[in-house]
Amino acid sequence: MVVDLGCGTGATWRALAPLLPADTRWRLVDNDPALLEIAGAMVGDTAECVEADLGDLDALPLDGATLITASALLDLMPETWLSAFAARVTAPVYFALSYDGRMDWTPTDLRDAAVTDAFNRHQHGDKGLGPALGPDAADRAEDVFAARGFAVDRADSPWRLGPDMAELQRELTRGIASAAAEIGLDEAADWHRDRHDAADHVTCIVGHADFLAVPSAHSQETTHVRH
Ligand SMILES: C[S@@+](CC[C@H](N)C(=O)[O-])C[C@H]1O[C@@H](n2cnc3c(N)ncnc32)[C@H](O)[C@@H]1O
Repeated sequence: MVVDLGCGTGATWRALAPLLPADTRWRLVDNDPALLEIAGAMVGDTAECVEADLGDLDALPLDGATLITASALLDLMPETWLSAFAARVTAPVYFALSYDGRMDWTPTDLRDAAVTDAFNRHQHGDKGLGPALGPDAADRAEDVFAARGFAVDRADSPWRLGPDMAELQRELTRGIASAAAEIGLDEAADWHRDRHDAADHVTCIVGHADFLAVPSAHSQETTHVRH
């Protein structure tokens, strides 16, 4: 049973299910019923959808889990949650797509570094459960799970948005500028205007990390191997 935490509309299922044995069971967990409804319509009877708050670790539906996944979630969570979660899980954990604090645009703009710095500080704000790990998420997950005896592995999984994804770049830079402005960066609006106008000629790389933690007892795990 793969349990996907903060499933949203089911992005992890979309990415991983084709790589796993066809009879793999899934449980998709989120606290947003509207997103769960979209996910449920997509996965059909291959998965159960559970509405739950990840902050309530005692009530997390982890029974039967042989793999716990999450994508684009860990950087929203506080360190206290990460530590408490690591203390209670016994299954392998795969956290995909944690933002790592790096953003690179080609061509560059003199304001990129200031915007990135302000955005990264904003990422540490409270996203619902306390001050978020933000760009430190994968580093802290490595430390916390290694300290509990898990074998940990990590790899870069950057977003690459070229001119062919100009509209997505514009949405991304709008959100980045809005966060940087909230931190008090005066030049955020001008930076966004120029990035918006240049998107057809720009490539943007946003650093993310994928993280795997396997408890020592599972070192020979084959449950999710596709034969
Ligand atoms: C950035 S989205 C990622 C969604 C999906 N995993 C993806 O990769 O597209 C974070 C998800 O976590 C969910 N979430 C955030 N805080 C939560 C909480 N305290 N309990 C349950 N779900 C939560 C949100 O509703 C959202 O669907």
